[in-house]
Amino acid sequence: MWNNTLLDSVDIEGPAPDTEPARQYYFMKKCRAIVSRKAEETGRDLTYMVETLGCQMNAKDSEKMTAILEYIGYVEGGVEEKKDGKSITADFVLYNTCTVRENANQKIYGHLGFLKNQKEKHPMMRIALCGCMMQEDDEVDKVKRSYPFVDIVFGTHNIHKLAELIYEHLVSGNRVVDVWDKPKQIVEELPGNRKYPFKTGVNIMYGCNNFCTYCIVPYVRGRERSRYPEKIIDEIKALVDDGVTEVMLLGQNVNSYGKSFGVEASIKDDREVSAEAGEGTDFASLLRRVNDIEGLRRIRFMTSHPKDLSDDLIEAMADCDKVCDHLHLPLQSGSSNILRKMNRSYDKESYLSLVERIRKRLPDISLTTDIIVGFPGETDEDFEETIDVVDRVGYDSAYTFIYSKRTGTPAARFPDEVPDDVVKARFDRLLGVIHDRSSSIYESRVGKIYEALVEEINDHDDSMVSARLSNNSIVHMKGDRSLIGEYLQVKLVESKGFYYIGERV
Ligand code: 5AD
Ligand code: SF4
Repeated sequence: MWNNTLLDSVDIEGPAPDTEPARQYYFMKKCRAIVSRKAEETGRDLTYMVETLGCQMNAKDSEKMTAILEYIGYVEGGVEEKKDGKSITADFVLYNTCTVRENANQKIYGHLGFLKNQKEKHPMMRIALCGCMMQEDDEVDKVKRSYPFVDIVFGTHNIHKLAELIYEHLVSGNRVVDVWDKPKQIVEELPGNRKYPFKTGVNIMYGCNNFCTYCIVPYVRGRERSRYPEKIIDEIKALVDDGVTEVMLLGQNVNSYGKSFGVEASIKDDREVSAEAGEGTDFASLLRRVNDIEGLRRIRFMTSHPKDLSDDLIEAMADCDKVCDHLHLPLQSGSSNILRKMNRSYDKESYLSLVERIRKRLPDISLTTDIIVGFPGETDEDFEETIDVVDRVGYDSAYTFIYSKRTGTPAARFPDEVPDDVVKARFDRLLGVIHDRSSSIYESRVGKIYEALVEEINDHDDSMVSARLSNNSIVHMKGDRSLIGEYLQVKLVESKGFYYIGERV
């Protein structure tokens, strides 16, 4: 969290402090002076645009970075939707990239081609790339070689350094590339900028140790590191004091929270904490502690790996009234054979029996999932197993992905790639089954009354608001801006397949 006392005390006349976060406060203040001078010269505010691809982790990182940009003096703007397409005039453009699938990378290169053209028209524009894709040497080399108009490149481990990197670039005019292959420090007392005033994500851990054979995340986000529980609790309390009522606890695998306190002695934390500070806290006990925070109303978390989901956690979810009726439980495949090749450490039967235990103790819970189609060696029989699990579990919704080969992962060298036309046919069939199953689940709730948190004005009709139920489904109803952030009792009047139309009661 932002530390005003520290910020005020930083003297920008002298040399930069060596310690964090004071060092970053120093550079934020330095940049602020430059940006304010430029704004005076040009007679207008300088603008920024941040585009975020990928998961909740990236979204959270972007919240932190937009707060830094705003402190520096940039104001959000510089994007215009015109008849003949988008026009970008922002003075600072930041792309927070994802690399989980190949098409995420292609998207970025598409955007860069477009940005080159925009920058030619607006020479003051500065372009920065960060995030998971920048943790890959080949991609950074490609950017260096073929995209000379990109000014700043950094990765996932040093987003806290944004102000320092901007300063370095603004002062030297040179391109700045600073990608760390490992985290060196967790710097947390930096500002955060919430997209919604009433809800936000809170990192409880970083990285992943699971090495699913298809997945590049462990290579670009590093090993698992759990934050100390005291820090998480303090952060949430401060957020609640600032108007937050719903938090999403974030980690690639929250169920293994607590197994990685003080991992990598070289990672310094920004406050002194004893090595034992987190001992004995696992995810279930963390949930119980978060549930006790006064003023907080909803707790969500993402993502749960089925292999680590303990009965203890199921109990904690049942006991904690603030924990939402939703669990995202990635299946990836319903075939035990493919799951073994994926290194998922569970099989079809254990996944189904876990779901049964969850449903027994938490009868109102909505389950959602991730599924990959076309993993190397996936046969028709394997695919049928996936369909069978989808049918038996009954997911509220599922994110479905076509397998994408990621260089450097073990699966990239696996034989028996599935032909494109077979993958496509399986993918379409899977979508159909998911859709049929989820529509009947949605339908079954019509007529009932639920509590809903109003999040925003409806995108298509400004006489309506969009709200979220505890089970994560969306309901649209009549309402105006004054309701945003409110918890309302809503009757679900009609199901539209994957959202509801409702009425306040
Ligand atoms: N190909 C396709 N999907 C993938 N995912 C991760 N790696 C790949 C890949 N190489 C999916 C998984 C994961 C989600 C975030 O992205 O389903 O749960
Ligand atoms: Fe990737 Fe598996 Fe880790 Fe999830 S658990 S981030 S799919 S390696």
